[in-house]
Amino acid sequence: MSNWPPSLPSQAGRTAIVTGANTGIGLVTAMELARAGARVHLACRNQGKAEAAMALIRAQVPAADVAFLALDLASLASVRASAARFLATKEPLHLLVNNAGLVARGTTKDGFELTFGVNHIGTFLFTRLLLDKLQASTPSRVVTVASRAHTRTRGIDLDAVCRPTPAGTGFGQYAQSKLANVLFTAELASRLEGTGVQAVCLHPGVIASDVWRRVPAFARWFMGLFMLSVEEGARTSLVCATTSDLHNGAYYDRGRPVATSEAGADREMGAALWAVSEEWVRGPSRS
Ligand SMILES: NC(=O)c1ccc[n+]([C@@H]2O[C@H](COP(=O)([O-])OP(=O)(O)OC[C@H]3O[C@@H](n4cnc5c(N)ncnc54)[C@H](OP(=O)(O)O)[C@@H]3O)[C@@H](O)[C@H]2O)c1
Repeated sequence: MSNWPPSLPSQAGRTAIVTGANTGIGLVTAMELARAGARVHLACRNQGKAEAAMALIRAQVPAADVAFLALDLASLASVRASAARFLATKEPLHLLVNNAGLVARGTTKDGFELTFGVNHIGTFLFTRLLLDKLQASTPSRVVTVASRAHTRTRGIDLDAVCRPTPAGTGFGQYAQSKLANVLFTAELASRLEGTGVQAVCLHPGVIASDVWRRVPAFARWFMGLFMLSVEEGARTSLVCATTSDLHNGAYYDRGRPVATSEAGADREMGAALWAVSEEWVRGPSRS
């Protein structure tokens, strides 16, 4: 691919966490941040996969400073343990890339609809638990990988996200989870205005990654003809992670801030989602 690897501003002296960094867009994001000099924690649910990813990064970037952080976003206990483990390192945190996400069926360990629970609720709690550290490490930022899929829903069914995935493709739950990423980002940016912590979200493009792993093989092959590479998919995350000209609270696509859907710009819905998310993650466990 031309213009690859991208030339990023030096990240020397900066510490990042990238969730879901063992494969796909997250792996490329982690690798390029490490190439630019950042210390990068790969926050992943599977240690073997994370270690294989770290070996790949070190093979490409021998000086890479990478570490594994266990994180299962489908379990609020795991999210709490993961944040506590990171905080115990006493390292600063300049960049949190909320990249992990999936389209799946079922429930999280705490009884939430699985796609929404991982993509929004686990991510919400992980970010909340790291906010003090981000504020103590300014200038810092939170970059959340949302999706253009957020435009496919006008709202979030707050009751349905507390039940198992209903019959269907599961795409409706995915769209709602990605709308939640967009609303969460705008609310976070507004709450942190003036603190030195910024927050943005983005659409990475339609990318040939493992996110399509549950799509039947032939359909996946066909879709792959029209998809971009994972390197292309990481470009906007890397812009958001490193640019000195970040539009706080914005939704990025193809490296630039663009308008969200009407629902994505609904500040009342964002504030209400934040309030109910606080309720959802309260206490050691709902189950
Ligand atoms: N690909 C696209 O076309 C596209 C389009 C728009 C938005 N996105 C978004 O881009 C982000 C990255 O996706 P991708 O395309 O790179 O997909 P991917 O290759 O499937 O990577 C997703 C990552 O998320 C991790 N993950 C899933 N469930 C998790 C959990 N419970 N706890 C912790 N990590 C978990 C996966 O870990 P495992 O390997 O262990 O499962 C994997 O590392 C996602 O948020 C996705 O929604 C993708």
